[in-house]
Amino acid sequence: MLENRKILLCVSGGIAVYKAVALVSKLSQAGAAVKVIMTESAQQFVKPLTFQVMSRNDVYTDTFDEKDSSVIAHIDLADWADLIIVAPGTANVIGKLAGGIGDDMVTTTLLAATAPIWIAPAMNVHMYDHPAVKRNIQQLHEDGIRFIEPSEGFLACGYVGKGRLEEPEKITELVKDYFSREHKLAGKKVVVTAGPTRERIDPVRFLTNFSSGKMGYAMAGAAAEMGAETILISGPVSLPVPSGVTRIVVESAEDMLQAVDAHYDTANYVIKTAAVADYRPKAVADKKMKKQEGGSTIVLERTVDILQHLGQQKKGQVLIGFAAETNDVGQYAKEKLERKNADYIIANDVTEAQAGFEADTNRVTVYGKNGFVQDFELMSKQQLARQLLEMITDKEEPHDS
Ligand code: CTP
Repeated sequence: MLENRKILLCVSGGIAVYKAVALVSKLSQAGAAVKVIMTESAQQFVKPLTFQVMSRNDVYTDTFDEKDSSVIAHIDLADWADLIIVAPGTANVIGKLAGGIGDDMVTTTLLAATAPIWIAPAMNVHMYDHPAVKRNIQQLHEDGIRFIEPSEGFLACGYVGKGRLEEPEKITELVKDYFSREHKLAGKKVVVTAGPTRERIDPVRFLTNFSSGKMGYAMAGAAAEMGAETILISGPVSLPVPSGVTRIVVESAEDMLQAVDAHYDTANYVIKTAAVADYRPKAVADKKMKKQEGGSTIVLERTVDILQHLGQQKKGQVLIGFAAETNDVGQYAKEKLERKNADYIIANDVTEAQAGFEADTNRVTVYGKNGFVQDFELMSKQQLARQLLEMITDKEEPHDS
């Protein structure tokens, strides 16, 4: 299953290094070519020779020990890999990467990499819970690095808790799953909208909403991971562009409409995650408005409903809308599906804990045509985005538009 796949395993120093040996074995058995880099502390636990035998490749430990004078090893290894896995990922290596530090063979290679990087952390439960470690993990999430969460159980330090390196079998499954999805959207164009819009009142004020853009950015990242040409049309948010995604930044509902229209004809899938303003001020003051005695009224007018507008001119594109509701979720979602001529509405209740605008997690129900309904459990927005796209691409083959 992993034939012709090149996996670079970066091993940092923790007791779970022995499980990294089993990981090399599993990946190799599945057909992958595996090369290993070890930090100095990893070598305190297991000798490089063990990894050399298991991978049948040289093991790299020192940035300055160049085995082949025609190349620079850390650049060459970074370029070689289709996927890089850091397992076990210690607090130290996570911290260094989050801070952009490259002071050994593992960290210089990670900084030079353009291939996807996955980190499987393993450490003491309190270390994993430390605010600095959490901050660094959050930073790396935002930099597009994927984490394989540690599992709970007995830790070598005697504690019971979260911090065990995920089992090699499970990591191997995730790798197989990743490569099996990798080309599922190759040759397809996916347009994703994300974030809020801003509707100007005067030069210093605007109307907006609480959308963070996180779900839309996760959808775009997942589409790019699956090989799609991915255009992300984003309202103003401060999130990094997921790797492989082209971002177009817009401000108002009208700007978003123009940008989506420009890409609609050539799109195969359009995913409308954005929380588009339904109303904008009818008149925009060209000078800052001054306060007066008594109240004030802003007259609003409707913006174009972009999803409905796209639904009216659908020529084979698969059209996916989102609906953030506070009540009667199913009823509103089905009504929007119908009215906007969408293929799916992905609905969530924003009043639910961990499923709101700012959250990193979400719990949704997908409504489709002919009474299709599917619930998804609470999970990270990244994981959910992958599962949603997987489900939709399994069910829908867009017609050539
Ligand atoms: N949408 C859109 N253009 C708008 C408003 C909404 O494209 N002007 C899209 C959103 O991107 C989303 C879907 O429509 O995919 C549903 O958005 P939502 O705000 O929940 O729906 P509305 O139709 O605005 O309904 P309401 O505000 O009455 O709940």
